[in-house]
Amino acid sequence: MRTLLFAAALLPLPALAAAPAPAAFAQCAACHSVNGSNGVGPSLKGIMGRKAGSYPGFRYSRAMKTYGKPWDKTSLAAYLANPQQAVPGNTMPFPGVPDAGQRTAIVNYLATLK
Ligand code: HEC
Repeated sequence: MRTLLFAAALLPLPALAAAPAPAAFAQCAACHSVNGSNGVGPSLKGIMGRKAGSYPGFRYSRAMKTYGKPWDKTSLAAYLANPQQAVPGNTMPFPGVPDAGQRTAIVNYLATLK
């Protein structure tokens, strides 16, 4: 047992590699890239701390541009829970992620997209 634990401690740390997307992010990837290119939705590269409605080259709704606050974990979780309630009038054609665990997994992943 002790040997096993020791061997596990020697495994290479995955921390330096890009974090893998959680399964729940697949529903976002249909519209959002994480590599900087815009699709149906704006790229989510660098989304944490970025002002809402500010990614270059994407035509946002007036509602999203007016909202304009820097995204943080709290506001992203609220937006993903209920997009229309968090940013009334925004045009993301997506009803939200009802499962809190999935929202947390997605938000934690978004925070890694530098
Ligand atoms: C069917 C397409 C579609 C899906 C699916 C979708 N989005 Fe969006 N998303 C959009 C569009 C379009 C906008 C721009 C809304 C606006 O301008 O009002 C947007 C905006 C956003 C923004 C604000 C971006 C910014 O630059 O301010 C975030 C964050 C976001 N989406 C995250 C997500 C996440 C996370 C998921 C998955 C849980 C998701 N979206 C699913 C189309 C989509």
